Order: sequence, then C-alpha cells, then structure tokens
Amino acid sequence: MSTMSEGYYNSKKSGDIYGQQGTRAALSMSRLRCILRGLNFKTYMFLFLVVPMGIFSLYFHGLKISYFLRPLWESPPKPFHEIPHYYHENVSMETLCRLHGWRIRESPRRVFDAVLFSNEVDILTIRWKEMYPYVTHYVILESNSTFTGLPKPSIFASNRDNFRFVESRLTYGMIGGRFKKGENPFVEEAYQRVALDRLLKIAGIEDDDLLIMSDVDEIPCAHTINLLRWCNGIPPVLHLQMRNYLYSFEFFLDNQSWRASIHRYQTGKTRYAHYRQADVLLADAGWHCSFCFRRISEFVFKMKAYSHNDRVRFAHYLNCNRIQDVICKGDDLFDMLPEEYTFKDIIGKLGPIPHSYSAVHLPSYLLNNAEKYKFLLPGNCRRESG
Ligand SMILES: *[C@@H]1O[C@H](CO)[C@@H](O)[C@H](O)[C@H]1NC(C)=O
Ligand SMILES: *[C@@H]1O[C@H](CO)[C@@H](O)[C@H](O)[C@H]1NC(C)=O
Ligand SMILES: *[C@@H]1O[C@H](CO)[C@@H](O)[C@H](O)[C@H]1NC(C)=O
Repeated sequence: MSTMSEGYYNSKKSGDIYGQQGTRAALSMSRLRCILRGLNFKTYMFLFLVVPMGIFSLYFHGLKISYFLRPLWESPPKPFHEIPHYYHENVSMETLCRLHGWRIRESPRRVFDAVLFSNEVDILTIRWKEMYPYVTHYVILESNSTFTGLPKPSIFASNRDNFRFVESRLTYGMIGGRFKKGENPFVEEAYQRVALDRLLKIAGIEDDDLLIMSDVDEIPCAHTINLLRWCNGIPPVLHLQMRNYLYSFEFFLDNQSWRASIHRYQTGKTRYAHYRQADVLLADAGWHCSFCFRRISEFVFKMKAYSHNDRVRFAHYLNCNRIQDVICKGDDLFDMLPEEYTFKDIIGKLGPIPHSYSAVHLPSYLLNNAEKYKFLLPGNCRRESG
C-alpha cells in the first residue's frame, strides 16, 4: 500500500513540472491525475496485473484462443453425402459394383496417380507399392522451393534409385520455385498444382482415365482404386474418406479426412486441386498419415515448409528433444487446439491422442516390410535423430 501511494506521489510531482510549462500535455496529465485519484486498489491490481497478464497470455495462446472460439465465427461446411463402401476380398467385382449401384465394365479404366512431392520418401514408397497393381501411370512433381519459399533440395531426384519399381510408369517433373518473400504459401502451392496439370498432359492422360488427386500422405486403399476402375456409373468427381493418423499408425485420430479425390478425367475441365470439389464422399477409402516421418530432421523440415508454417510461433517448437517427446505422447507439434467446428468436438479431442494397438487393415507393403518401417507401427515412437 505504501509503495503504491509513493508512486502516486511521484506522478503528482512530475505532473506539476509539466503544469508549469503549460502545455497541452500538462492538461491531459492533470486529467489523468484526476482519473487516477478516483481509482481504488482493486483497479490498480486490474491495470497493472490482470491486463499485462492478459496481454502476455494472448501473445502466447492467441492462436489457441481463436481456435477455441472457432465455433462462434465459423460454421461447419455443408456435410458430404456419404456413399457406403462395400468390400471383402472374397466378393466378386461384379457383386461389389452392383452393391454400390454401379455396373461392371468389360475392361478397367486406366489410372493416373499425381502428387506434389516435398520430402515424404517413406510414405511415398508405401503409397506407390499399395497402388502398384492398379496404377497405369505415376506422375510426380518436385520443386526446388517449399510452399513457404525456402530452397529445397531435390529429394526425389536424389532418391530415384529407390523407386526403380515404378520407372517404366513414371513421369517426373522438376519446377523452379518463384521465391517470393512474405507471400502466402498457398500461392506457391497453387502455382505448383497448375504445373502438375501440364505434367499430366505430358504423361498422356485422356478422357475417362481415373485421376487420383491427393497429397502423398493420403493413401487410397488398393481395393478402392480397383473398385472405381472396374465400375461404370461412378460419380465424375468423388472425394475419398480416409482414416486420419498422426506421426504413425499408432495414433488414430478420426475418420474425417476428405480432401483426397478421384476424377474421371475430362480434358479442359479437370483441374488438379486439393479442396472440396464435389458433395459425394466414399466411406473408409484409405489412410491419411500426417507427419509420418522416420527422422526428427524431417519433422523440422516439414514444420518449416508446410503451408501452415505460421504455427511455428516459437523457435523452441523445432527443438529435437521436444519433438521426440511430443511424438511419443501423441501431443500436438504446434501446441494447438483441435481444429473443430463445435465446442463438443473441441473438448472431446483435447489432450493427447490415445494410443491404438490395432495394426489390422494397414497397407500391405508396410506389414510385409515391418522391420524397415517399424516407426510407423504401434509401440515404436522413437525416431532416428538427425
Ligand atoms: C473365400 O472363398 C473361398 C472359395 O470360394 C472359400 O473356400 C473361403 O472359405 C472363403 N473365405 C472366406 C473368409 O469367406
Ligand atoms: C531452382 O530451379 C530453377 C530452375 O531449374 C533454377 O533456375 C534456380 O536457380 C533454382 N533455385 C535454387 C535456389 O536452387
Ligand atoms: C472409423 O471408421 C471405422 C470403419 O468404418 C470404424 O470402425 C471406426 O469406429 C470409426 N472410428 C471413429 C472414431 O469414427
């Protein structure tokens, strides 16, 4: 109490000094003094403790708070029309087509898989092996710039030897980045997707071929592709619902991944995109494994490179020990709240993702090479350092 009145006295004194100078500032100072005189202890507490603490926590948790309040300012998108998905390995293709209300074709469509590649070497291998029996042509585009405008080595080009199994079906493209400082990362991403359209033409895509549009880590099941290439009457554009995983198949999040889509190609009309392009969604069509990397250095690269890099608010987020800890706990790399549209969903997903010990229904190449890819399987959260 005594220090506070001392402070008050000081401010009064300095106010007098300005008062002698008779400036405008003095006038407002004396007004301020009047105001200060009327304040009680509680108000001081509020001004000097609560307000700074509020500003401090806004600084550290501002992004979090805005996500928590998202249900107030953003309504959920229109729900998809979900198409039930039927599959069993012992059921004939004719029956499977009929169960979906489609008819079997005399011969299957050709299938093109096109991706923008950043640094997901392991997931790309699992993806391409999973689809291998049914994909006619693989198209991959790599840039020497990340979406965020950082220089990127040609990781695919330098690992190309590991992908010899697709060589005869592969069209690879390399594109120079634009390196625009401070630009929204989604612009560079859009630019690379346009280049991917050109690469698909070069690869020889034709009308009614199937085109898979998805990120490398969104992997349609082989049987999903087989179904869609064999049936007539499928929608021209169909989104694929995928099981969402984070870090590995140990951390199952939800079934809400929908961005991947499959198109019956139409020249002049089909454009490579990764947003919502239709209202139909085929249930349980594959896996989406985000941040499923072998090495801690790959996590760091991705955190800096991906389009949401504004989420790296503090340098310590990129600390290797912290990243390893976060992975093993199933916590969030960016210390963010769940991105949901209702308070119920946000609260339901608060805290770490529970461990899952099911390794049933995973890509076959992963299980056939479990030793090589054990970091993706339950119980193996330790990553290679460096
Ligand atoms: C699959 O089909 C074969 C041959 O028709 C049959 O012997 C087998 O029991 C079936 N398996 C299952 C799991 O239904
Ligand atoms: C990126 O690639 C383009 C075209 O190949 C080249 O002109 C440019 O110098 C490269 N930039 C960097 C930073 O590697
Ligand atoms: C996700 O989908 C699978 C298969 O349809 C189902 O078994 C599982 O219960 C679903 N999980 C959640 C959390 O919705």
